[in-house]
Amino acid sequence: MCGITGYIGFREAYPVIINGLQRLEYRGYDSAGIMLYDGNQIQLAKTKGKVSNLVEIAKSDISTSGVVGIGHTRWATHGVPNDVNSHPHLSQSGNLVIVHNGIIENYDAIKKELITRGYTFKSDTDTEVLVNLIEEIKTKENVKLGKAVQIALNQVVGAYAIAVFDKEKPDEIVVAKLGSPIAIGVGKDFKEFFIASDASPFIEYTKDAIYLEDEEMAIIKKGREVNVRKIKSDKLVDSNIQELQLNLEQIEKGGYEHFMLKEIHEQPRAITDTFRGRLLRDEGIIKMAGVEDNMKKFLNANRIIIVACGTSWHAGLVAEYIFEEFARIPVEVEYASEFRYRNPVITEKDVVIAISQSGETADTLAAIKLAKKRGAFVFGVCNVVGSSIARETHAGAYTHAGPEIGVASTKAFTTQITVLSLMALRLARAKGTMSSSDYRMHLQELELIPRKVEQLLNVDGHVKEIAKEYLLSTNCLYLGRGYNFPVALEGALKLKEISYIHAEGYPAAEMKHGPIALIDDRMPVIVIATSKGHYEKVVSNIQEIKSRKGKIIAVVTEGDTTVKEIADHTIEIPEVEEAFSPLLTTIPLQLLSYHIAVMRNCNVDQPRNLAKSVTVE
Ligand code: M6R
Repeated sequence: MCGITGYIGFREAYPVIINGLQRLEYRGYDSAGIMLYDGNQIQLAKTKGKVSNLVEIAKSDISTSGVVGIGHTRWATHGVPNDVNSHPHLSQSGNLVIVHNGIIENYDAIKKELITRGYTFKSDTDTEVLVNLIEEIKTKENVKLGKAVQIALNQVVGAYAIAVFDKEKPDEIVVAKLGSPIAIGVGKDFKEFFIASDASPFIEYTKDAIYLEDEEMAIIKKGREVNVRKIKSDKLVDSNIQELQLNLEQIEKGGYEHFMLKEIHEQPRAITDTFRGRLLRDEGIIKMAGVEDNMKKFLNANRIIIVACGTSWHAGLVAEYIFEEFARIPVEVEYASEFRYRNPVITEKDVVIAISQSGETADTLAAIKLAKKRGAFVFGVCNVVGSSIARETHAGAYTHAGPEIGVASTKAFTTQITVLSLMALRLARAKGTMSSSDYRMHLQELELIPRKVEQLLNVDGHVKEIAKEYLLSTNCLYLGRGYNFPVALEGALKLKEISYIHAEGYPAAEMKHGPIALIDDRMPVIVIATSKGHYEKVVSNIQEIKSRKGKIIAVVTEGDTTVKEIADHTIEIPEVEEAFSPLLTTIPLQLLSYHIAVMRNCNVDQPRNLAKSVTVE
């Protein structure tokens, strides 16, 4: 979490950095700060709260001119979110300035040591310790900034993406990475450079970017090529300049009030993009390079273990049903955070699938490393191209959802399920667990999904009306069975994370083992009751809720009459093959959470305490 950005070149750095911070706010928004060098002095402004607060403060507190600077938007780890703990942090002399994304785990021991050498600290952060360690080394060893950073980083334990500026060397910025991402945007003829946690802050200035790998650092100087080197061995590495595929339109709201709403409405396009070049209906085949190239691994696998967190974990649960049904491969779905710490039994005959929108989730990354160490083949399903998880896995498939900026995951979820469905179908065909006619039928069904999602999005107004009735609820229950049990979990997660209403998801049949005690006339229960998924059983559950006066919002298949008679509200989805129903049933639940959150005046795109990319454990 946290977003870092920087600029060195010929333009005014202030607007570049502020704009960049605004684009990186999805990574954290507890506080924001900026350092500019005006050719003479360091100008520093930082504050609790959002980048918009920083802009207000900067107007009166600092001179905003200068062609070099660094900035930060924070998701607090060490130290409460306040002005003092905000980044950038200055060293004791005031000459060095740092922004940091990550955690220095051994900061306490280093801090104590530095205190014995006369250092004092203003903040509670691990970052202020790091900048003073760099200063101590620079002074004591009489080395340049780059060398001091390198020596310091060899002494710290933890994760970091950092940018460091030295007033005595104002024509350079030193950056380094371990565990947290950092991209360097390269301007024409090396006349300017941009630094950021991802490429979004500099997309309008350059399409050329260098992504640092773990344990790499670079000294960035105007007019010079970037030299990337290994932090441990000092060895120079090839600074591979990549061409960015991202464009500005993708990271703007495009007329929608919130990114979340835009991303919900982008789902037909996103799912189509996920199919592109993979689902070849006319030829009756699915082509996925990562799967084809490693077919033997999949076919010889004893089981598939899926590791993920949050919404991605829910997509993994849907995949469990699909893989087992279609390809008859046993699947286990694990929270990456539990998996990495519980000494799991993993063998070379296991295939691990890691699912992550951001490709940066620290727990998922650690789970991948553990699985690789134990000999498993690891396949990634990521959205962000070139992300840490995409690079760490042996092979993978991108979801191609495009940038997801709203903290609440929407199109990432449906495109993850799309990729996993394609994989399950391809493996089913290769294993012979699905007849060719069934296979073709499923391909056709899958191909119709974007059109059905498009049609389903018309329920928006109706869902908004329903939302009005429940915006003051304090609790909510979500129920679903089979493929739609994970959708119930996902619906509940969406509601709690953006509207702060307590919500729980359950398999419908589990209700009578406890949660039924919660039901009274103030409890809204959202039930997924599609026509093909254990319909009669779910109808019985709905009756049980009704007889206890619960309020029922049911997601049903169009043409349903039975549930309509019992439920307080129904939302219709188009007829769909049951295995693919999560791609539809999830849409009204996303809209319901969205409207409730908007009506409760919640910050939909940046809910409290959260960040889009969870790069700390
Ligand atoms: O980037 P990832 O998919 O690895 O992120 C995992 C979770 O942090 C994420 O899905 C989170 O639960 C979302 N905010 C839910 O909407």
